[in-house]
This record gives sequence, C-alpha cells and structure tokens, in this order.
Amino acid sequence: MGPRIGVFGAGAIGGFLGVHLAAGGADVTLLGRRSLLEHAGRLRARRVDGARVEPGASLRLTDDPEQLRDRELVLVTVKSGDTEAACTQLAALTRRDCVLVSLQNGLDNSATLRARLGDRVVGGIVSYNVIREDGGACLRQTTGGSILAGRGAGEVAAAMRTLARALDVAGLTLELRDDIDEVLAGKLVINLINGVCAATGLSLADMLRSRDARWCWAQCMREGVDILTRDGRRPARVIALPPWLLPRVLGLPNAIVTRVARRLVSVDPAARSSTLQDLERGKPTEIDALNGAIARLAARHGARAPANEVVTAAVHELEGQRAPLRFLAPGELRARVEAARGR
Ligand SMILES: NC(=O)c1ccc[n+]([C@@H]2O[C@H](COP(=O)([O-])OP(=O)(O)OC[C@H]3O[C@@H](n4cnc5c(N)ncnc54)[C@H](OP(=O)(O)O)[C@@H]3O)[C@@H](O)[C@H]2O)c1
Repeated sequence: MGPRIGVFGAGAIGGFLGVHLAAGGADVTLLGRRSLLEHAGRLRARRVDGARVEPGASLRLTDDPEQLRDRELVLVTVKSGDTEAACTQLAALTRRDCVLVSLQNGLDNSATLRARLGDRVVGGIVSYNVIREDGGACLRQTTGGSILAGRGAGEVAAAMRTLARALDVAGLTLELRDDIDEVLAGKLVINLINGVCAATGLSLADMLRSRDARWCWAQCMREGVDILTRDGRRPARVIALPPWLLPRVLGLPNAIVTRVARRLVSVDPAARSSTLQDLERGKPTEIDALNGAIARLAARHGARAPANEVVTAAVHELEGQRAPLRFLAPGELRARVEAARGR
C-alpha cells in the first residue's frame, strides 16, 4: 500500500487530487461534508485531455475527522474562510509528525496554519481549474497547469518528496519550490480574475474574450503587483506570462490577445472560477481572501486599490442575492472601476 494521505475539505480540488492519488496506489481518506458521501463508489475525475480517472479501492470518503488521525500527509483544501476552523480540528487530530500541505488560494492560509501547527505546514498552489460535473460525482480539470509547493526541510522535505512521487505515479506533476511565498503572491495576482468572473457571471473563456472584463482584470492585477511589491513580496510567474507583463497583453485587441496569449484563451468553455462556482451554489465566496486582500493590504500601506475594492463590493452584493443572480455586464463593471479610480 502507498503512503497514507488525507484530504481535509474534499470539494473540487481536494476530490480531484484524492481520486488521482488513490488511482496511483496511495491509501487516501477524503474528509468532506455529508454531500461528499453521496458520491461513494461513484467519485471520479476527468483530466484536461478528457481521460477518465477512477480511484480504485484505496479511496475512502468520510465526514468523520477522526479518520484522519493515522495520516502521514494531509492536503488542506478548504476555502479560506474555513481555515481557522480547520486549524483547530487539525491540531486536535493529526499526529505531530503529520505534514500538512495547504493548496488553497490566498496569501495567508499557510501562514495561519503554520502559526497554529508549526513548521510541518507547507504552502502550495494548484495552477489549474477544476469544476464539478454530474452533480459533483465527477471532478473535471478544465485548464492546463501543475501543482507547486514548498520544498520543506528535514523530515518535512522527505514527506514532500513522497507526495511528489505519489502524484507522479498518478500522472500529476508537483514542482517543489524554494520560493513558495513568491509563488503564492504570483498566484494571488492571477487569481484576481476570480472576482471579475464572479461579478460578471462570465466563464473564464468568455471573460478572456471580453475587452472590458480583461481591462478590469488588468487593473486588478496592476494594483495587486504594486501593493504586494510595496509590502515587500515579489510575485513570481505561475503561468506562461509574468504578473507584470500580463496586464499589458490583456489590454491589446482581441485578435492580438488570441494570437499572443493563445494559452490563456484556449481554456475549456466550461471552466468557471471557483468564486463564481460558490455564488452559483449559494455559498459564501473567498472574495475577501482574493481581491479583498489586495484592497485591505493597500489600506494598510495608506494607498488605495479601487479596481479590487469595486470588484470585491460587487461580489458581496451578489452573495446577498437570491437566484437568479443579477451579474454586472463587463462594461458596467468597467464603468464602476473607472468612476472609483477618478474619486
Ligand atoms: N476549484 C478550483 O478550480 C481551484 C483551483 C485552484 C485552487 N483552488 C483553491 O482551493 C481551495 C478549495 O477550493 P475548491 O474549489 O475545491 O472548494 P470547495 O469545492 O468548496 O471544497 C472545499 C470543501 O471543503 C468542505 N469543508 C469545509 N470545511 C470542512 C470541514 N471542517 N470538514 C469537512 N469538510 C469541510 C466544504 O464543504 P461546504 O462547502 O459544505 O462547507 C467543501 O466541500 C480554495 O482555496 C480555492 O481557491 C480552487
């Protein structure tokens, strides 16, 4: 039997990774809510190339946190708003030598976990998008990319190499990095797309085809790079283009964007940002840990981040609505950002 791996908060990302790890022979326990258990015996994944992945017999689904007690590695994949609560449960549950890998978006999740659980916490990112299909029984990857995580030291480093091997057997790449804080900052800059997609209700592909929506994302990214740099962080490149260059490319006409950044626009038409997926499921979103985090950080530095403020406020408005949600047209979002920049 392969390594004993747990997933704390198995939704889209945690479920996708858990299915792969089990398919590769790891002994995997997915902790989720009752809704996860409905998929027992049916949970599966679909890769970006369309390949179907079945987990085999070494996957267990549970809503009982006690089942994580014997795990040597736990992937933390709850939304940012659930991280504090996860800390408390993980501190009570896991072995002291259990290595915890946060694969959440946002800047502060791994730091929050580390403050409570110590150096056995490693930060990481998943650079691709995963959506639920077939009522959540199938977790489908809709864009290309890889997983990046900190290298760790000593026994933590050994555990991270074990995880990298287990993922490799499953056909997934984990790149171990020495600059994971910069990677997290770079991912946050890219993730500012989440708020723009959620405010407008656009899929990733449609958002990239809209010049006004791209303009809003570019403004959010410019502010993000500026504020993170003022805060002493150096956002690293996590997709084909570096975070400082991407806003410039997005401002070009559609035809040029399509040609220059084909990798950016050739996403699956079904790809939807996780913030939009939350709105559609009537769940609270992570917007305060994404665009909201840039607006807060700006305020801390006596500056403003009007595009991120506007986008955050627009998503909060939608959180309070009953279906059908009244999304903003991309031009309307742009007009609000322009007005806020002029104030
Ligand atoms: N989806 C993507 O494409 C993607 C890509 C890269 C990174 N990410 C990041 O990965 C993280 C997870 O995203 P996701 O889309 O996978 O979210 P998700 O589908 O909402 O999955 C999180 C799951 O954890 C469950 N959960 C929360 N607290 C729990 C607890 N104490 N015990 C058991 N289960 C618990 C949630 O249940 P409830 O909803 O019922 O509370 C939910 O099912 C986020 O930080 C996100 O930004 C997502």
